[in-house]
Amino acid sequence: MLSKKVQDSLNKQIEVEAYSSQVYLAMASWAETKGLNGVASFLFTHSNEERQHMLKLVRYVNTRGGTSDVPALKKPPKTYKSVRDVFQQILDHERKVSQDINNVVDLTLKEKDYITHNFMQWYVAEQIEEESLAQTMIDKLNLISEDAGGLYLFDRDLEAGHGK
Ligand code: FEO
Repeated sequence: MLSKKVQDSLNKQIEVEAYSSQVYLAMASWAETKGLNGVASFLFTHSNEERQHMLKLVRYVNTRGGTSDVPALKKPPKTYKSVRDVFQQILDHERKVSQDINNVVDLTLKEKDYITHNFMQWYVAEQIEEESLAQTMIDKLNLISEDAGGLYLFDRDLEAGHGK
């Protein structure tokens, strides 16, 4: 059985993951309208992954005798300055999400809820991967700088699934 505090913090995390899915979706949609099909496809896929992160939490809360909250949709930004801006915002966003995950993990220890602590380790590992992936993309985009040909190849690589 989840304590009220742990349940509340997991429900807050459900909202964070749902919003992440919205953010990636908005970015994907922006990229698609710019003809960046590879970037768009990468971001659409990631939006789905974030929805899975949310669902995993919803199912966990319910399985542990709690009640999950399905959050209202918050509108993410619609336009972005550049592909680099998109990935910088992703990195900043994921760093913030990592902090949120840390807070949940911290609470599970205070509440002596070792089962939820164990469950959250999947999210801890996932955040390491997500921050590192965003940083890799930014490193590549820094190499390209303003070069249009480089951006074309970056996009094509993502379309071919070489981004991960
Ligand atoms: Fe589910 Fe990108 O954190």
